[in-house]
Amino acid sequence: MGKRRGRIALLLALFLALALSACGGEEEPRTIRVGVALYLQDDTFISTIAQHLQQMVMEEEQARGVKINLSIADGRGNQSVQNEQVDRFLDRDCDVICVNIVDRTAAAVLIDKAQAAGVPIIFFNREPVEEDLNRWERAYYVGSRADRAGRLQGELVLDAWRFSQEELDRSGDGVLQYVMLEGEPGHQDTLMRTEYSVRALVSAGVPVEKLANNSADWQRGQAKMRMQQWLDELEGPIEVVFANNDDMALGAIDACLEDGIPPEEMPFIVGVDATPPALAAMAEGTLKGTVQNDARGQAERILELCFDLASGAEPSPEKITDGHYVWLWYTAVTSENLAEFLP
Ligand code: BGC
Repeated sequence: MGKRRGRIALLLALFLALALSACGGEEEPRTIRVGVALYLQDDTFISTIAQHLQQMVMEEEQARGVKINLSIADGRGNQSVQNEQVDRFLDRDCDVICVNIVDRTAAAVLIDKAQAAGVPIIFFNREPVEEDLNRWERAYYVGSRADRAGRLQGELVLDAWRFSQEELDRSGDGVLQYVMLEGEPGHQDTLMRTEYSVRALVSAGVPVEKLANNSADWQRGQAKMRMQQWLDELEGPIEVVFANNDDMALGAIDACLEDGIPPEEMPFIVGVDATPPALAAMAEGTLKGTVQNDARGQAERILELCFDLASGAEPSPEKITDGHYVWLWYTAVTSENLAEFLP
């Protein structure tokens, strides 16, 4: 009798479990698949965006009760490698693909593949040309206005010139002698930051003289080498170093330190990004200013757009400019507001 009761109880429990799962009592959370293709995972700024994405995905899973399957691929600076990675994301039925494209003139191929598969595509940080983005209404770009970073960087130097010209103008000739450490050739941020930083000074009437410029490909080590060469070869003092990003500004500082130049005698060195090591250099006084490239904000916008697109919804028009663009702002970081940016 006892055995029989036990069997009945077991059957009842099984029946209940089946009934509950059938009416959704233990429903599986919805899974969103997002593929992220990076141009180069080693890049300091890009790896910061990737870390924010990973962190936010965990937070959003909790908050929204969904499962987010985030795959990150490193394109290692090679467009064919990246194209294959995107193919793989499409084969694996990703709901959205995010691309930090290696070669920003090569977006058409990826947009066409995404369109053929009906999978929305979000570019970020490396801006495709406009005609390519216009190929499909579900192709987007998340990034910051490249000219603004240049202008803000130029204004950091302009302020220093206005308030302590005698400190900046070491040669005392009334002209600001500068060198330009450029990022990767052809990158929108290299072109615009280089142009608009100097333009901010020229349009304010500051006489400037370019002593040298060269690409250091966004990299600290290369920038150090360029700066070492300029310190050895250039006659007269370098008064300002414009670096298109912080890693290169840090490379210029490395070269000065190795050359035995104490921080108070270094040129006025400015960067862009506000990466943690750059903020630390500002706190030490070797880096004079930077412009925040909002990595966290970009990751947030990318993810927000992924949720909208994965749910099949059209992103609301106030979030999108000209049908394709999500723009973020840059902010200048000076010794006065540094504390707001420190981790
Ligand atoms: C950043 C650089 C970075 C580059 C990569 C720029 O916006 O300022 O630090 O290397 O993007 O595409």
